[in-house]
Amino acid sequence: MARINDNFTKLPGSYLFSEIARRVSAYRAENPGKNIISLGIGDVTQPLAPTVIKALHEAVDEMSEKETFRGYGPERGYDFLLNAIAENEYKARGVDISIDEIFVSDGAKSDSGNIGDIFSVDNIVAVCDPVYPVYVDTNAMAGRAGEFTSEGRWSKLIYMPCTEENGFTPAIPEKTPDMIYLCFPNNPTGATATKEQLKVWVEYANRNGSVILYDAAYEAFISDPDLPHSIFEIDGARECAIEFRSFSKTAGFTGTRCAYTVVPKELKREGMSLNQLWARRQSTKFNGAPYIVQKGAAAIYTEQGKKEIRSVIDYYMNNAKVIRDGLTKAGLTVYGGVNAPYIWAKTPDGMKSWDCFDKLLKEAGVVTTPGAGFGPSGEGYIRLTAFGSAEATAEAVERLANIL
Ligand code: MLT
Repeated sequence: MARINDNFTKLPGSYLFSEIARRVSAYRAENPGKNIISLGIGDVTQPLAPTVIKALHEAVDEMSEKETFRGYGPERGYDFLLNAIAENEYKARGVDISIDEIFVSDGAKSDSGNIGDIFSVDNIVAVCDPVYPVYVDTNAMAGRAGEFTSEGRWSKLIYMPCTEENGFTPAIPEKTPDMIYLCFPNNPTGATATKEQLKVWVEYANRNGSVILYDAAYEAFISDPDLPHSIFEIDGARECAIEFRSFSKTAGFTGTRCAYTVVPKELKREGMSLNQLWARRQSTKFNGAPYIVQKGAAAIYTEQGKKEIRSVIDYYMNNAKVIRDGLTKAGLTVYGGVNAPYIWAKTPDGMKSWDCFDKLLKEAGVVTTPGAGFGPSGEGYIRLTAFGSAEATAEAVERLANIL
């Protein structure tokens, strides 16, 4: 008889955003015709930029001609996209990343989940609390998280609380982790990390042989010129960090799917190059992102593409301001939404996150994400995204203000 991976049986309930979708559909079924606005999952709403659409069309046409048709591509991405990333995302910020350190993929969610394949299941993992649930659930699936306890924590994970008191910045944990997940600008709190703060983590990781798994999926939303966009802006990070980046939020690719991961060649553990291990993993389990999609992604690095992308990011960040201002006026304490597309709001009167989620859905028809879904320290918060349309965002804020 085939046995199953019983780590899956230890996972509580369903994946956070699936649970939210389930509750929203149940509510919709009971209240047909009710207009519901989603500021829950961070999914973009604005169409792809015209320059991207043009590049996609041209690439589709290339696929229709024998001379320009493409079959399997290079698993780690086409040179035209790798060069554009190295040049625009890194060299332009004074960071030297070569194209054989970049791996193009179909998403930062998959990469940050799959990266565990190249690490021992015995590694001790540290995560921020609250945290993007993918890091926790994928480590639980691999058997690295231990048992899910009655306090809503995994027995083997190190939780690094990010609270109002510490400005939502994790402190170095007492026990030394082997793998450290960091995400800045942060999902869900919208907090950022300065170069000085990242330097502390890089030095710590290098002293202890830990590896930092740095999720920079929201770097394009940074407006403060002093904040780092990449962990590789910090000296020593090439010896201890892997970085995840995505076109999903930057360029509206949540449905189109394109991302990349940077694994520097200096990063070695037990004498092995993690770059080579990841290359081996990807070439075995992944056949590369579609040519058409990579052509679309590369178009964001043209002069016109850059302008178009910037204007959509500004549009979303204006929504963030509308949410921040509206909720503050309604009496809530809010964080984030300045260098990040997420607003982290304290629930009124210390209400539990899921109770607040239900109240906002039922009384205002607005979907949020309950903070407790991101970890125990998220209790008492809700997260709102700035990725709605401007009209729906304004309407949602007005509805919320009326019931808060
Ligand atoms: C979120 O809402 O946290 C994100 O959309 C999830 C994701 O990017 O996978």
